[in-house]
Amino acid sequence: MKFTKFIFSTLNLSREYLESIFSLASKIEQNPENYLNKCNGKILAILFFEPSTRTMLSFESAMLRLGGSILGFASGKTSSSAKGETIADTLRMINGYADIAVIRHYLEGVGEIAKKYSSIPVISGGTGTQAHPTQAMLDLYTIKKAFGKIDGLKIALMGDLKYGRTIPSLLYGLAKYDDVTLYLISPKELKIRSHVRQRLNGFNLKFYEIDDISQIIDELDVLYVTRIQKERFPDQLDYERLKSSYKISPETLNNVKDSFILLHPLPRVDEITPEVDSLPCAKYFEQAKNGVFVRMALILNLLGVE
Ligand code: NCD
Repeated sequence: MKFTKFIFSTLNLSREYLESIFSLASKIEQNPENYLNKCNGKILAILFFEPSTRTMLSFESAMLRLGGSILGFASGKTSSSAKGETIADTLRMINGYADIAVIRHYLEGVGEIAKKYSSIPVISGGTGTQAHPTQAMLDLYTIKKAFGKIDGLKIALMGDLKYGRTIPSLLYGLAKYDDVTLYLISPKELKIRSHVRQRLNGFNLKFYEIDDISQIIDELDVLYVTRIQKERFPDQLDYERLKSSYKISPETLNNVKDSFILLHPLPRVDEITPEVDSLPCAKYFEQAKNGVFVRMALILNLLGVE
């Protein structure tokens, strides 16, 4: 297995690397008892400058399930960044306190700072508005688990494709697979950014930008819904206008294929109605659980533990 030290994007991860993480995550999922002591004596630092539930708790759960320990903070307000400390200094200091770190931050470019200043492995837990690589990895793992493959699937991504950072990471991950057809569904104001579109044009996949899901819902294998990212809108009036653009209810899903699955990185606001939760295609809570296995596999990989 190839070991890596920093995970800040899915762009530079090879299909082979992704597959090796998924295969380890699957082994962990099947026999978690074999991994209970793999990280004895190791410490994971949680450096979260933005709110989080799943990413933070699943990283914590992952390290604890490997026998390691955790330390850190869940808000920039309670760390020295509130006094003006730079990320570079925080990271350099954490190098003496922990063996591996996960960082969530609103700034793009945190990865470059980590690569420059950190001697311990660092993983993005969501950085800026364009990167959430471990979310993309657990999304891909969930798709692979459901279909046994990713090649050849028809996948729609819907919602806030502009500000949602899970979107570019997932798109670049999907681009590593063959013959994937993508439908990008959003209000025109929330389409993918032009640099993301340019990159997609250079990949071996077909993608269509549309605004109505009813045209394609019966062909889809996967629908990935995201929330409209209130906190990232420069103008809250735009958010108010666009916030209820889409709603998935059982009626929307009347004609889906038997094997169809519905995913969401969560948190959801009102874009999937609660009545959908009991349908067999609703996989978003299982998706969140898969995050623990994928993050366990990543921690092992970055710490170089066989
Ligand atoms: C995402 C994030 O923080 O970007 N959350 C997550 O990690 N599942 C998605 C979101 O906040 O909408």
